[in-house]
Amino acid sequence: MQVQTVGVVGCGLMGSGIAQVCAEAGYRVLVREVSEDLLAKGLGRIRSFLDKGVEKGKLTQERRAEVLGRLEGTTSLQKLAASDIVIEVVVENLAAKREVFQELDAVCPPRTLFASNTSSLSITEMAATTKRPDRFVGLHFFNPVPLMKLVEVVRSLLTSAESFENAVEFARSLGKTPVRASDKTGFVVNRLLVPYLLDAIRALEEGVGSVLDIDEGMRLGCGHPMGPLTLLDFVGLDTTYAIANIMFDEFRERRFAPPPLLKRMVQAGLFGRKSGKGFYDYSHEPAQPVAGLV
Ligand SMILES: NC(=O)c1ccc[n+]([C@@H]2O[C@H](COP(=O)([O-])OP(=O)(O)OC[C@H]3O[C@@H](n4cnc5c(N)ncnc54)[C@H](O)[C@@H]3O)[C@@H](O)[C@H]2O)c1
Repeated sequence: MQVQTVGVVGCGLMGSGIAQVCAEAGYRVLVREVSEDLLAKGLGRIRSFLDKGVEKGKLTQERRAEVLGRLEGTTSLQKLAASDIVIEVVVENLAAKREVFQELDAVCPPRTLFASNTSSLSITEMAATTKRPDRFVGLHFFNPVPLMKLVEVVRSLLTSAESFENAVEFARSLGKTPVRASDKTGFVVNRLLVPYLLDAIRALEEGVGSVLDIDEGMRLGCGHPMGPLTLLDFVGLDTTYAIANIMFDEFRERRFAPPPLLKRMVQAGLFGRKSGKGFYDYSHEPAQPVAGLV
């Protein structure tokens, strides 16, 4: 597969990171958001990541300009028709993702490979609603995308062997390490990680320890780079809530069920870092645990 142009749909937390690593790998990148405001916010996130790299001496001004020069933002999905591969990175909602793929299916040539960055939705179900189910894969990146080495490459029941290997090669071309996974809800990493994160919230609800106790416990006792509640704030509580509901629907096991506290926090708009507050309040430096959650 010859890739020159990559389309990215969604420029939120993950989409901006994916657009950035594709541009860094030398591809021309077209990134679509639903409004000019959200597009400016997403592209701003990329710019500030690169600016920090320049400040720290990790990249030159020339390299920064070169990467940004390969990125083009748009609010029109039709513009992505020129892409060799399109990566969908919109909210974790099947209806929203299907709508994107149906629109893309109508404008992209048959050769364009479709990929979803979904954490928990069925690749098979999304692929089946397009006219190219054999050229449809999961490409599951990790947050923060520019720093995390792993990409899960997901093969649905309908993905052709050729498309799957092309996707593996594409992930490698981004400097990532691909692992192959089959289309089982949560793939490898979230199958193991999500019950752990949900259990950390249950431990807080049950008074096992405070926000700091739980995070310090796992950081210092298990050598994790950050505690589970800090990680939840990074992932986004709204996204975690959507993932947990999808996994619980699939497996009907308590370990995947979203705890009531998670639901209440999402209802309250406490989404984590992206909204400024989750288990921690990011208006303080360093961030402080939010009081009165339980
Ligand atoms: N947050 C994580 O750590 C993480 C990790 C791996 C995978 N994912 C998956 O990545 C996807 C996106 O998650 P996120 O954390 O970036 O969410 P996010 O809320 O930060 O970003 C989603 C973006 O998609 C945009 N969007 C919605 N509909 C759109 C459309 N039709 N066209 C273009 N843009 C559209 C929204 O405006 C928003 O900016 C989800 O499927 C999620 O499960 C998230």
